[in-house]
Amino acid sequence: MRTPFIAGNWKMNLDGAECAAFCAGLRDVAAEAEGVRLGVFPPFVYLGAVVEALAGTDVVVGAQTARPEASGAFTGEVAMRQVKDVGATHVILGHSERRHVFGETDADVRARLDVALELGLDVILCVGETLEERHTGRTEQVVTRQFEQALSNIDDAAVAERITVAYEPVWAIGTGETATPEQAQDVHAQLRALADRHFGGDVSSRLVIQYGGSVKPDNVATLLACPDVDGALVGGASLKLESFETLARLGVGGAA
Ligand code: PGA
Repeated sequence: MRTPFIAGNWKMNLDGAECAAFCAGLRDVAAEAEGVRLGVFPPFVYLGAVVEALAGTDVVVGAQTARPEASGAFTGEVAMRQVKDVGATHVILGHSERRHVFGETDADVRARLDVALELGLDVILCVGETLEERHTGRTEQVVTRQFEQALSNIDDAAVAERITVAYEPVWAIGTGETATPEQAQDVHAQLRALADRHFGGDVSSRLVIQYGGSVKPDNVATLLACPDVDGALVGGASLKLESFETLARLGVGGAA
């Protein structure tokens, strides 16, 4: 039995006052939300404040990326250890903007994932193909490579309990163009089969696989109705409390 997981990736949006107002409202939403897991991923500068503002709730708070080194000369960067230190419990790794705008490779994602697990941070691992890769029939090959490079030989229990995979087709992120439920289900089923091959049926049946890419209140229900879609990683539509609340409400019952 998988609990649906609706996570808001705030990217480089919201200011301190907006984060505070969002969290105040989210406390009420979370108190009512049963049968769904909620999470928010604020910009680094607000991470500690958001952790405090949501203390005592079940809402997951995490970073949008982090570096694996414990410390060092990495001007402008933040260490996984520092994310943990401010009380965050999760980190998103391999987001397409990190891969395509900031040049993070599969090896970088793996190095970060290893350190996150070692430090006790849970991970949302993003995978997804570009439009060109989809058009040339390479979707399965690309997501398989990203999945395997990140997760091969990771401990079974960690994969089942501490990793969420987010399928985020690059062409659907921030574009308003969503994958159809059939396209999403297709890739989600491939990812679950891959998990089954590497980690066995017990792990694959527990692995939560989110869909991400222009998820909105008006399309979330059909996506979550797919048997292998267990939640959503949401950018734009997670920035307003009303729409995040609607997503949370519609997310209930969204996982198998
Ligand atoms: P979007 O972003 O919902 O704005 O498309 C999703 C994401 O990047 O995680």
